[in-house]
Amino acid sequence: MSSGDSLGDSTMQFGRETRDKYYLLHKEKTLVNHGSFGAVPRPVYEQRNTYIELMEYEPDAWFRWTVDDTMLKNRDRVAQFISCDPEDVVFVENVTEAINDVMWSLPLTKDDGVLVTSVGYHAINITATEVCKVRGATCHKVPLLFPLDSPGEILTPEAMVKLYADCINDHPDIKLVIVDHITSSSALLMPVKEIIKFCHSKGIEVLVDAAHAPGQIKIDMQDLDPDYYAGNMHKWCHTPRGCALLYIAKRNQNKMNPIRYSKFQYRNLWYRFTSQGTRDHTPYCCAIAGIDFLNMCGGLDKVTAYNTSLRDKAQELIATTWGTPILPVTKELTAPFMCLIMMPDKYHDCPQTDDVLDKIAHKIYKEYNVLTAVVSHQGRMFCRIGCNIYNTIEDYERLAKVVLEWDPRKHGL
Ligand SMILES: Cc1ncc(COP(=O)(O)O)c(C=O)c1O
Repeated sequence: MSSGDSLGDSTMQFGRETRDKYYLLHKEKTLVNHGSFGAVPRPVYEQRNTYIELMEYEPDAWFRWTVDDTMLKNRDRVAQFISCDPEDVVFVENVTEAINDVMWSLPLTKDDGVLVTSVGYHAINITATEVCKVRGATCHKVPLLFPLDSPGEILTPEAMVKLYADCINDHPDIKLVIVDHITSSSALLMPVKEIIKFCHSKGIEVLVDAAHAPGQIKIDMQDLDPDYYAGNMHKWCHTPRGCALLYIAKRNQNKMNPIRYSKFQYRNLWYRFTSQGTRDHTPYCCAIAGIDFLNMCGGLDKVTAYNTSLRDKAQELIATTWGTPILPVTKELTAPFMCLIMMPDKYHDCPQTDDVLDKIAHKIYKEYNVLTAVVSHQGRMFCRIGCNIYNTIEDYERLAKVVLEWDPRKHGL
């Protein structure tokens, strides 16, 4: 796939042309880590600026008589996007906030357990640990190990479901399971539907951390039936940062409260969560613009065709250049727009602390203008790449070259 391939019936040329026309991204930098913080396309950026100007032009009119209706229209569109009743979804600033809201609302006691995994996002595992500590409950962490030392072995969705099932069967105190829809540092697309089904058969509630899901996979609340589902619109669904959805199944809504009470606490679920005093609501008002941009690109199927094909080609190119393996998981378990490739041998002797991983990414960025995420699993370092409509295979060729060239030993690492 070279720069500027066109797919389907849209006239939009993904790759360099899309990047130059639709993104504000620095032209001289190679950016292959969309997953961490997203990037806002121009039409959405301009829509947000329009709302900011409205807010500044007439602050009272905006906050008292405009913003509620604007947010509600956006909520309705998000509900349609994830196939749920609009009354079951609220806006929050990000998944960190959403998961804290849910966790601190749950009536956990000393007899209860919560299940997380070793590949869960730090902030979420910390929240589960701290809430359990305060409530006297137990936080169980299931270790999710990759067969890195068993060539030919590969992790499957069935093995993943079994891992959860075994742990749940071993710990009858578990009342809540937190499962990622797409994991962060390992970029796994988890078999959430099957995990939810199993948990419900045991009377266990499920909270889905879907930080990376909206815009990367089709989401259908009626089909999944989670108890709680928290997803960022600002990673892959093109909105400004500070726009996330929290779905709460009707059966659980009475017990849910945001961690901050507002003057609307005694109104309905929507007001409780979304009206949190005076703040900038403009990211929430751009959910429609984000979904419209996705549609302007030709929709999720067309974007997936480009990004997933680029992911596969990039993964193969990088692994071949470095002579290293990819993460041993099946294609079904790999996130559509992200994947991992083990880094060359010289990186594995570095201390694998968060600090060092970040230092490596930062030094490579400063020296070569190439931005990637460096992650660690079981003592091995990996690049996690993200592929989006503004990327081309040349971005990954450059990444492959500079990681091979750069030497951590020359930088005291
Ligand atoms: C799996 C996962 N959960 C939660 C988060 C937190 O998202 P946010 O920073 O938007 O709160 C992230 C962020 O990258 C993530 O990858």
